[in-house]
Amino acid sequence: MCKAINDCVIVEIPKIEDHRGNLAIIEKEVIPFQVQRVYYLYDIPSGSSRGGHAHKELRQFLIALSGSFDVILKDGEVERRITLNNPSKGLLITPGNWRELENFSSGAVCLVLASNVYCEEDYIRDFEVFKSFKKLKNI
Ligand code: TYD
Repeated sequence: MCKAINDCVIVEIPKIEDHRGNLAIIEKEVIPFQVQRVYYLYDIPSGSSRGGHAHKELRQFLIALSGSFDVILKDGEVERRITLNNPSKGLLITPGNWRELENFSSGAVCLVLASNVYCEEDYIRDFEVFKSFKKLKNI
């Protein structure tokens, strides 16, 4: 069975490099959704963790613009830990995946491109509810 967790992939962001530095470009073919919202996490205290929820519909693309952090993805059975530490790579997170963000380095900035505006009804913030949702939807 194909699991939603396998749809969460690292995507290379095209960049132009020259002696002045790098310029990374996200145009519409880079991520498989239209961006409706951009937000970012910064000034994250050492030892702090973020996330701890899943989305029913929302798709997101995470980039470590600066520094590094770990993303832990859970589908209720399988768990994956992905370190983001390169502004030219992003992580696509598809719906139906629980995510936790931790191990933020000093100065880390996490940019999030999202497929929709903020909607609390799209969140699942309880892991047991998340597992029931996965069973119900068979995803
Ligand atoms: P939260 O979901 O706890 O953030 P994270 O996923 O990074 O741990 O969100 C913190 C608060 O911010 C919460 O009250 C919801 C609110 N919020 C918005 O109002 N708009 C947004 O786009 C986001 C992502 C959160």
